[in-house]
Amino acid sequence: MSASSSTIPVAKPVLGEEEAEAARRVILSGWVTQGPEVAAFEREFADFVGAAHACAVSNCTTALHLALKAVGVGAGDEVITVSHSFIATANAVRYCDGVPVFVDIEADGYNIDASLIEAAITPRTKAILCVHQLGMPCDLRSIVEIGRRHKIPVIEDAACATGSEILWDGRWEKIGKAHGDIACFSFHPRKVVTTGDGGMLTTANSDHDRKFRLWRQHGMSVTDAVRHGSKQVIFEDYDELGYNYRMTDLQAAVGREQLRRLPQLIAQRRRLAELYRKRLSLLPGLSPVEPRWARSNWQSFCVRLPETADQRAVMQALLDQGISTRRGVMNIHLEGAYADRNSHRAASSLMRSVSAQRQTIILPLYAQMTEFDVARVVEALYAALAEVAAPNGSAQPGLDAALV
Ligand SMILES: Cc1ncc(COP(=O)(O)O)c(C=O)c1O
Repeated sequence: MSASSSTIPVAKPVLGEEEAEAARRVILSGWVTQGPEVAAFEREFADFVGAAHACAVSNCTTALHLALKAVGVGAGDEVITVSHSFIATANAVRYCDGVPVFVDIEADGYNIDASLIEAAITPRTKAILCVHQLGMPCDLRSIVEIGRRHKIPVIEDAACATGSEILWDGRWEKIGKAHGDIACFSFHPRKVVTTGDGGMLTTANSDHDRKFRLWRQHGMSVTDAVRHGSKQVIFEDYDELGYNYRMTDLQAAVGREQLRRLPQLIAQRRRLAELYRKRLSLLPGLSPVEPRWARSNWQSFCVRLPETADQRAVMQALLDQGISTRRGVMNIHLEGAYADRNSHRAASSLMRSVSAQRQTIILPLYAQMTEFDVARVVEALYAALAEVAAPNGSAQPGLDAALV
């Protein structure tokens, strides 16, 4: 790395004076958890995605747990999902003592192959848990139709997809507008907007929403806001097992500011993704493809390396140039936590999932990136590919041209 070039991280949240001021406002108000800021964030998020209900929780993993519980996933029940996802997707099924049933991803993307779902359905199937991986909407239309046909609820793991859109009955709609039964979002700092940690559940079903609110606060029959505002003494009950999955008002206040920034953040990310795509077009097949009916928020920009390239070596070469990357999305079934054969079931070959984990890397993408940064990443990637694929000086076809 030359002394003049700064490092390029893989991701970077946009947090400024507005968020700092919002947190200060909450601290000085004296009400710091699940209070008015959480309620306002929920309303604003519901409006943003076009959902009837939005319930804030501590993170997306807890959101997934509550969503699966709400549709009745219990001991031995099967949930059809992907192995090619962050481990929390399948872990949430196991929190309910359910069995994640893995099917493979599409040939030309990183989302569930909807054509494999029906063959994976058994009398034990309790839900389909699809993932909008890296912010790219999955084939929700086909998945929802399968769910309806078999009377199986569809839960969307939309951890990465805040602000992503899907063409639905001829209109562009936000992910989370209750296309499936429940959608779960993450506000971890690697996501497009962040509250530090945080999550949200959206649904059109008021019964689900009521349960989320009950379970996120220990199963307590009366909320703090109601007790606080009451002129009568109220004793609460705990009739059901609940959890502490609350979001704090500090997080929610930051989230409201992030939501205000979101349209601009997505516009910047789309512009950067377009730049990447143009610059990477010298090596066809490297860039991710946006289906005609999907608009990604480009939470991550994942590229598929040529088969001859050594993923780790390419990543190291980039890191040596001060450019941070991550390997592509993991495969849950290959982790030690899933070594026990009873922990999951594979309902199809997972070959594409495995190959995607081995052959893809995530390039830096964050709203503050400049055109120059993108050019630097692409140049370093081409150089790394030439070096790694052809250590003896006989560069791979296409790379010579790309480097000119
Ligand atoms: C697809 C997916 N699901 C679930 C999660 C878990 O989100 P959280 O960290 O908010 O619990 C993540 C986080 O990276 C994710 O990428």
